[in-house]
Amino acid sequence: MTDTLDIKITKTTESRLATTDFSNLVFGHTFADHMLVADYADGEWKNFEILPYGPLDLSPAISALHYGQAFFEGLKAYKHDDGRVTIFRPDKNAIRFNKSAERLSMTQLPEEMFTQSLAALVDVDRDWVPAKAGHSLYIRPIMFATDPYLGVVPSKTYKFVVLTGPVGPYFTKPVRIKFETHYTRAAEGGFGYAKAAGNYGGSMLPFKKAAEEGFDQLIWTDAKEHKYVEEMGAANVMFMLDGKLITPSTRDTILDGVTRDTVISLAKSWGMPVEERRISIAEVVEGARNGKLTDAFGAGTAATIAPIGAMHYEGEDFVLSDASTREFSKKVLSTLNDIRYGKTEDTFGWNY
Ligand code: COI
Repeated sequence: MTDTLDIKITKTTESRLATTDFSNLVFGHTFADHMLVADYADGEWKNFEILPYGPLDLSPAISALHYGQAFFEGLKAYKHDDGRVTIFRPDKNAIRFNKSAERLSMTQLPEEMFTQSLAALVDVDRDWVPAKAGHSLYIRPIMFATDPYLGVVPSKTYKFVVLTGPVGPYFTKPVRIKFETHYTRAAEGGFGYAKAAGNYGGSMLPFKKAAEEGFDQLIWTDAKEHKYVEEMGAANVMFMLDGKLITPSTRDTILDGVTRDTVISLAKSWGMPVEERRISIAEVVEGARNGKLTDAFGAGTAATIAPIGAMHYEGEDFVLSDASTREFSKKVLSTLNDIRYGKTEDTFGWNY
């Protein structure tokens, strides 16, 4: 354990809490009163400050804007019945934060600094954590390069910024997906496993086209052959096939998702067979045809457990069973909620 981080706190005199409509939350549209900002310069992290949420003063030449040395994380804080507020598995995100930094040739942020920053910010805005079922305070840490030079070299200065905002369910109904067999999200040797801003920017055109074709989401497939399943939109994807939980194994192209890991841990604790491996579209489609595919869902922090309602491949639609009858994803979601909202014992030690 490192020393307590020295954070300067300047609270707002004009809280927006009382005028915020918590009954109509659109993901990422509402921000809590404060944000945290810190700088990396001269080889060290400094100037940790919590201040009222607002614009940053930045040079238009910062390399993050030109070359994409920028990445983020996503995690959530929950309010328990007794008023306690906990953050779900921030240690995992702290580790992944540094994996993204490494891949983008950026600087490391000590894990304790990451976690303490988040905890301090959530503490200041704890009244913003919704107490309603299915609701939470979304936490969005980012790091970006701030050297104001146009040379294509790693920056020597960075900013770490953390925003938070109350959120409700990301998907309100089972999603209709298509397998994306033209566009690619990530390739071997690339940086699909990092939460690089560019990974998400590059996904927007394929998403837009899929939406125009009537799909809610798409399932990314491998860059080489477009035959193997990779991820679902901005989440991992999991299938219950022939009584086994199957999900693509983590590698260059797959994000090591915290929700993914959590679902796997729960499934294993229930004695369920889990396979982390390559899975082909053909195998999933065959399972949908012969009834062995009993569950399919996206797993992510924002998405939580997002049931797939129907899948489209090569001109054919495959409608899956009614999501309200699916035992596994329902049990996972309710167990997860019980742990995160403190309704059951946190035997895994996931709540911080
Ligand atoms: C998250 O689940 O936190 C994500 O990163 C997805 C986000 C891009 C909406």
